[in-house]
Amino acid sequence: MKFSCVATLISTIVGSSAAFSPSLFDGARTHSSQLNARKPFISGNWKLNPQTKAEAVTLASDIASKITDSTPDVDVALFVPYVFIETAMDASGEKLMIGAEGVCPEINGAFTGAVSTSMLNSVGVKWALAGHSERRVIFGENDEYINGQCLKLIEEGMAVMLCIGESEAEYEQKLAGAVCAVQLKKGLAGISKEDLDRVVIAYEPVWAIGTGKVATPETAQNVHSKCRAILADMYDQEAADAMRILYGGSVSPESVDELMSQTDIDGALVGGASLDSEKFGRIINFQAV
Ligand code: PGA
Repeated sequence: MKFSCVATLISTIVGSSAAFSPSLFDGARTHSSQLNARKPFISGNWKLNPQTKAEAVTLASDIASKITDSTPDVDVALFVPYVFIETAMDASGEKLMIGAEGVCPEINGAFTGAVSTSMLNSVGVKWALAGHSERRVIFGENDEYINGQCLKLIEEGMAVMLCIGESEAEYEQKLAGAVCAVQLKKGLAGISKEDLDRVVIAYEPVWAIGTGKVATPETAQNVHSKCRAILADMYDQEAADAMRILYGGSVSPESVDELMSQTDIDGALVGGASLDSEKFGRIINFQAV
């Protein structure tokens, strides 16, 4: 899409934030309004890896073994190919949450190759990714489709990690915040404040994914704080303060500590380094500086 189209789209959507009025709040989530309620969340995205069940068993159990008594109080999830979900659950015991890399927004019917929320729920999966840039770009999943995935997961009682982020060209045009605003508003459309405790956001600048070009902590913090402001606009400040916003894009043992020290960075979504138990183990055991 040309920048002019992006800019028009952005101004249309950003300007319509009044449509996202806060839903009634019953006070049940009072604790999550506190910043320290944002428990760190380290997650791995295996993508089209590893190549065999035996390798998946070894990798999941090796990663689980990195969670020890001295590990920070952190949620750890692995998003894995469907075929390895139960394998990874068995291999990692209770230590890891095993999620799906995607889900079909339809519940049943003639959708060859698709996997539904109820299928996943029935095998104990509670989490799925939505909106990963590889799904957006390679598989053509647009914001409406992604919103359907988010809604279906919430409806099923599951949780979603919604991935957002700008392309390199958009970054250079200083459109990161605006692109995230569009993706957040479209992705979360129809999700109430009460259901936000089952939503996590992963900000992943596309130019940083798989490139080794990790965003600087300052750059990432800047966009994360913009995302939180957008959430405050869509819902309210309390909801925004409670939302966990993860950074993704070439996170490594070398970069994790500084990233995790930023005020608005609550975790990491890790691709390449989640395929190496030593590296991912170090990321799980991050040391905020
Ligand atoms: P990367 O992938 O860590 O290999 O950059 C991140 C992701 O795609 O979620």
